[in-house]
Amino acid sequence: MRHLLDTRTLNREDALLILDTAEDMAAIQQREVKKLPALRGKTVVNLFYEDSTRTRISFEAAAKRLSADVINFSAKGSSVSKGESLKDTAQTLQAIGADGVVIRHPASGAPARLASSGWIDAGVLNAGDGTHEHPTQALLDAFTMRRRLFGEASRGRDLDGVSVVIVGDLAHSRVARSNLWLLNALGANVTFVAPETLQPYGARDWPVTVEHSLDAALRAKPDVVMMLRIQSERMHAAYFPNEREYARNWGLDDLRLARLSDRAIVMHPGPMNRGLEISSAAADSPRSTVLEQVANGVSVRMAALYLLLSGERRQTPKDSE
Ligand code: CP
Repeated sequence: MRHLLDTRTLNREDALLILDTAEDMAAIQQREVKKLPALRGKTVVNLFYEDSTRTRISFEAAAKRLSADVINFSAKGSSVSKGESLKDTAQTLQAIGADGVVIRHPASGAPARLASSGWIDAGVLNAGDGTHEHPTQALLDAFTMRRRLFGEASRGRDLDGVSVVIVGDLAHSRVARSNLWLLNALGANVTFVAPETLQPYGARDWPVTVEHSLDAALRAKPDVVMMLRIQSERMHAAYFPNEREYARNWGLDDLRLARLSDRAIVMHPGPMNRGLEISSAAADSPRSTVLEQVANGVSVRMAALYLLLSGERRQTPKDSE
């Protein structure tokens, strides 16, 4: 693995390698000495052309816990606002000596362009590109599902037979797409639930059940209910029922929460619109994995950085040198 650009091309073996390496990273973080020397002397650049809270700080924490030097670059306040191109920005990073570039960009395909351009030698990690993919989010989601559903027995396991309902603004969701491909590779059964106008174009040709009624999807007693944010910033009027109608028909409210099976978990990648796609009772309930997803994100991103940048492909990192 040289880059992590998507989950569509990630096979089951590599996905399990990342998840099991993340288990090792989580175990190391439980110890008193949290920091590994694995990426000492390496430089990781967080190149963010779109806002982020969780992904950016999580990649920063992950890189620092592997002893890498971290440079945070936000397009706001940089020479991008003066018209500097991705190529010139990338070549600046190359001159600085970046070993890894974590990129979030509003254009679908920007990370792949960076990886294939020859502008930089660094490994490229996609931190979310347009409506295309957000692979580390899907990996941390799968890691969280494994841990919640299988506990101690999760290492080495895929998600064969696990039923996952993904609900919300699927049309704009890179999280939904990355989850779909990864969950399929791991053997889960995925259902997309959204009003017709918020289903992604082409979804009927994908390995997913397309459903419009949330209540019908929940009657099947799924193991996982993943609620997605309504992305108002990407929304046109034509897409969206009004907010009250949306919350009534597609929101995970307290009544729907009460009808879930005992084993079911509620996920959300954040940031959440409380009261719209998810009620506060659901977001804060014991079923909710929202904060576990954030914490697990550090372990998963440590695993991805380690596997891409250390030159190692073994699962267990050394914690001393
Ligand atoms: N889940 C996620 O990508 O959150 P941020 O936009 O805060 O990074």
